[in-house]
Amino acid sequence: MPPASEVPNRDTDTVRRVVRWFEGNGRTLPWREAADHAWGVLVSEVMLQQTPVARVLPLWREWMARWPSPEALAGASPAEAVRAWGRLGYPRRALRLRECAAAIVRDHQGQVPCEESVLRALPGLGDYTAAAVVSFAFGTRTAVLDTNVRRVIARVWGGEALPPGHTTRAERVRALALVPDDPKESVRWNIGAMELGALVCLSRNPRCDECPIQDRCAWLDAGRPGLGVRTTPRQPWHGSDRQVRGRILALLREASAPINLTEHASLENVDPGQLDRCLESLVADGLARLVSAEQGTFGL
Ligand code: ADE
Repeated sequence: MPPASEVPNRDTDTVRRVVRWFEGNGRTLPWREAADHAWGVLVSEVMLQQTPVARVLPLWREWMARWPSPEALAGASPAEAVRAWGRLGYPRRALRLRECAAAIVRDHQGQVPCEESVLRALPGLGDYTAAAVVSFAFGTRTAVLDTNVRRVIARVWGGEALPPGHTTRAERVRALALVPDDPKESVRWNIGAMELGALVCLSRNPRCDECPIQDRCAWLDAGRPGLGVRTTPRQPWHGSDRQVRGRILALLREASAPINLTEHASLENVDPGQLDRCLESLVADGLARLVSAEQGTFGL
């Protein structure tokens, strides 16, 4: 990555203000305290991928107490990992995290790798998670582009209400230009921009009065165009395949023996075609298994 000083249009003063704001306003979160604990950071980032902090906190504590190292999680079964994922959502993450732990043990002597490209090659870790781990756990200078950071950058420097659906090259170039040269300061900027997006620069109800850089924001300057415009229609949750899959998984987690799902009283109101489709996809994802075809029973 080129040093930021070689990239035009630096805005070090605005960046510094976000960093100072974070020092006074950032939340104390356990994975931030344990910054020397790369495994804890990695687990938190996978859990936080699509889930809010409040829901992640208790589960992260449980996982760290139970599986404090990659080696510990690698020794768990897939069913144990899925059961322990509880209701956090997107349960394939539990399987990927366990596979990630196994790959760390097998290929990296049980130590979380410190190189972004190596992390990116591990199961379940994408560009965002790999960047977050090297920044927050190893203090390496990189751009961490989660949806919060992307929104802050889109507004302040782009004058747009929301970033594009997928991270673009232009966004990356702009983001890299903002990362301070000093690695310690780069970490503070990454976490500060993320926190500003999570607490102040909210997607639908931004609190611009509380923003430390309100006088620097191109979007606020322009009168906040596009606020409240939804780019992707919200998928109804009730009755969706995701909801039915969640209900099936909850039954499997709670059952101590294989159960018949197609005749289960609590799934009576689910259309049989949808139930079959959801069961099939859970089996294909490795989240459930057919125990007896004759009896139609399933387990984790
Ligand atoms: N702290 C570190 N990473 C985070 C994330 N992804 N969300 C919220 N807080 C964080």
